[in-house]
Amino acid sequence: MSKMPAILVLHGPNLNLLGEREPEVYGSLTLEEINLRLKAAGDELGLEVKCYQSNGEGALIDALQDARSWASGVVFNPGGYTHTSVALRDAIAAIPIPVIEVHLSNVYAREEFRHHSFISGVCAGKITGFGWRSYLLALIHFSSTLKGNG
Ligand code: DQA
Repeated sequence: MSKMPAILVLHGPNLNLLGEREPEVYGSLTLEEINLRLKAAGDELGLEVKCYQSNGEGALIDALQDARSWASGVVFNPGGYTHTSVALRDAIAAIPIPVIEVHLSNVYAREEFRHHSFISGVCAGKITGFGWRSYLLALIHFSSTLKGNG
């Protein structure tokens, strides 16, 4: 079998606390449980899923830059940096691979400051409000487009 395309699933600040962090907003699964589900889904979808989390803006920028040498796409939840970071936007604009913005919660049903994203305009698309399945839906998109299914 030919090598499966690789996808980076990138998690930003405070997502390491999933499971204990505001479970009524973000759900009860831990980050590790979500990553395991995404890797299992990747196996079925024909994608090699690699997961990384950092609380630091610089480390997230490094991960995006690094991904351009090995990944076919990035599924990115930038957490609170979504609403603050020009540098993350610039990093996404600088790399040639598609990035899908994802959020567990529906940011549009929450405080107004969460309605603005610095990165949406340079992403391939955005999925928000479906819990851990926001990431899953992004993987399904990559699987389908990488197979050339229209
Ligand atoms: C989040 C939404 C952001 O507004 C928030 O700062 C987060 C998580 C989400 O996944 O719903 O940290 O990105």
